[in-house]
Amino acid sequence: MKLDRLSPQAPDALLALIRLHAADPRQDKIDLGVGVYRTESGATPVFAAIKAAEQALVDQQDSKSYLGPEGDMGFVNALMPYIFGAGDPTMGGRIQGMQTPGGTGAVRLAFALAHKAGVRQIHMGVPSWPNHAQILADLGMEAVPFDHALSDGTANLDAVLAAIEAAGKDAAVLLHACCHNPTGIDYTAEQWAAIAAAFAASGALPIIDSAYQGLGQGMEEDAAGMRALLAAVPEAFIAYSCDKNFGQYRDRVGAFYVMAAEADALDTAFSNANALARAAWSMPPDHGGAAVRIILRDPGLTANWLAELDTMRARMRSVRDALARAGTAGRIDLTPLAAQNGLFAMLPVSKEEVAALREEHGIYMAASGRINIAGLTKDNLPRFIAALTAVTG
Ligand code: LMR
Repeated sequence: MKLDRLSPQAPDALLALIRLHAADPRQDKIDLGVGVYRTESGATPVFAAIKAAEQALVDQQDSKSYLGPEGDMGFVNALMPYIFGAGDPTMGGRIQGMQTPGGTGAVRLAFALAHKAGVRQIHMGVPSWPNHAQILADLGMEAVPFDHALSDGTANLDAVLAAIEAAGKDAAVLLHACCHNPTGIDYTAEQWAAIAAAFAASGALPIIDSAYQGLGQGMEEDAAGMRALLAAVPEAFIAYSCDKNFGQYRDRVGAFYVMAAEADALDTAFSNANALARAAWSMPPDHGGAAVRIILRDPGLTANWLAELDTMRARMRSVRDALARAGTAGRIDLTPLAAQNGLFAMLPVSKEEVAALREEHGIYMAASGRINIAGLTKDNLPRFIAALTAVTG
């Protein structure tokens, strides 16, 4: 009997919240759990540009035959100007990519390729997206933590610089490109410049997780720090997700890019990445990436997509501003949230307070204290502030 040897695993805490929230009969429950964008009415609609692209795909697609482990290279290449800049998105042929199943697949491939290249330790700011540590554990790699944030709600520059120096030539350092998950605390342009210089001096491999481009300050603005870093180092791995900025969550749309010191090194890098992908998932799901490719090759659809992203960003900014205007709720200072970015913010609440918010007030958030900003609306925000005040006052 083999199954007897398994011990039960707790369900992923973030994903478990989806079910818990769905099972709650209270009409006025508030979902601040898993990271999906929501409109003012609480919906997570399919982007209009995606709907149009999907229709075009249905009309035009004449085969569903296999592509290959690299997936749809039209999709992978069409994204590059948005990620790396329109001027020379391949940086003289030094950047190449492949499609992955969502951002998670891209992160896994980045870690696995680093492991194949001899990296055993990944330094990462904590708190981080919980799955980062889970993937590293699954690959038998060590997560070496450093503090991402200071208690005033800004990034801890000294800690990341020390981690980059400590990592040295043999290790990697994981950074979030923008809209840090779970804190919402991003590096400033000056901090990115210092980070870039530290990487150049240490020789550590930067692994950049870019899962929220466009949800912070704008598509270009959200990539600026990462681009400054790439300009300063010989090699980097970039894990990219379209699940949020194209609203493709369940369709699992991502890409993995390698920047090499010399273009010649990319063939070997991708022969390894393709082999890793083949062994893990063979090839990525096609549909969502094909829809993104159709959008990015059509100026009208691209404009629609960018306009929809602008609307999302403006709504999240207005929620942040409203929270900051509230000042404090109980002992929680909400004012730093205005300067933070993206879907998430961390509230310094205890697990017991998170449980009380859920049980007594129907407010669902991660046990870590992370809230999804987009779950708040003009209607439910006063109730959220009142509940937070009641629980932490
Ligand atoms: C989140 O952090 O809520 C999202 O990235 C969803 C996920 O896969 O965890």
